[in-house]
Amino acid sequence: MRIRQVGIVGCGLMGSGIVETCARAGYEVVVREVDSELLAKGLQRIMGSMAKAVEKGKLSQADMEAAGGRIKGTVVLDDLKGSDWVIEAAIENMAEKKQIFSALDRLVAPHVIIASNTSSMCITEMASVTKRPDKVLGMHFFNPVPVMPLLELVRTILTSDETLQAAKEFGAAVGKTIVVAKDTPGFIVNLLLVPYMLCAIRALENGVATREDIDTSMRLGCNHPMGPLTLLDFVGLDTAYYIANVMYDEFREPQYAPPPLLKRMVLAGHLGRKTGKGFYDYK
Ligand code: CAA
Repeated sequence: MRIRQVGIVGCGLMGSGIVETCARAGYEVVVREVDSELLAKGLQRIMGSMAKAVEKGKLSQADMEAAGGRIKGTVVLDDLKGSDWVIEAAIENMAEKKQIFSALDRLVAPHVIIASNTSSMCITEMASVTKRPDKVLGMHFFNPVPVMPLLELVRTILTSDETLQAAKEFGAAVGKTIVVAKDTPGFIVNLLLVPYMLCAIRALENGVATREDIDTSMRLGCNHPMGPLTLLDFVGLDTAYYIANVMYDEFREPQYAPPPLLKRMVLAGHLGRKTGKGFYDYK
């Protein structure tokens, strides 16, 4: 299957990273955001990230300009019509995702694979609203997408072997290392990462140590690039809270239950880097 144009739904933190990664790999990309303000913000984030890659010597100025030229932003979903591959990276809301999957199913050619970048939601449920459930799978990227080498492919009981194989080839073409998981909450990474991050919040809540010492322990004791509380600020506390709830709803095991402090920080609007305050201050 020849892929020329990739359609991406959503230009938030993850969507914009996926757009950049695909454009840098040589694909034409059409990205749709819900309004022009969010679209402008997303496109700006992409150009900022590519400028940083140039500064770090990871990308040439000419390649940055060429990649930028391959990206087209839109607020009209219909503009994704000619896409050969589609990745949904919209907000983590099942009703919204089902609406998008249903619309994409009517819009793009019948052979086109439709993937979701969801970090924890049920891919089978998204596939169920399409007439091509064998061509639906999860493609879960990691933040920051252009830097993180992993791509989790999520196969449902309806995903065909051909779809999985095509996704492996596409993932490799955008430079990622592939792992394959079943469609179960949290897949591989979040199944392990979420309970770990929640434990760190409980440790802080229980006064085991200061936030700095919890983070320093995991950075210097385990060589993690970031401590768990810094990572939570980076991922977004609302996102972590959301994923924990999805996992707890399905598994009903205490290790996935969001600690009270996390809920209260989310309610207070302390969502991490994106709001300027989380476990640490970023203002
Ligand atoms: N494009 C390409 N490469 C870039 C880049 C860009 N825009 N920006 C930075 N880089 C490269 C740098 O050149 C550098 O490469 P080398 O190591 O080869 O020199 C590397 O990326 C690290 O960059 P920096 O030195 O600028 O930044 P850093 O050392 O402060 O690292 C970080 C930043 C990569 C985010 C690092 O702190 C890290 O790995 N943190 C953990 C991130 C993580 O765990 N992400 C997963 C979150 S969970 C998730 O996403 C799933 C979910 O569902 C919740």
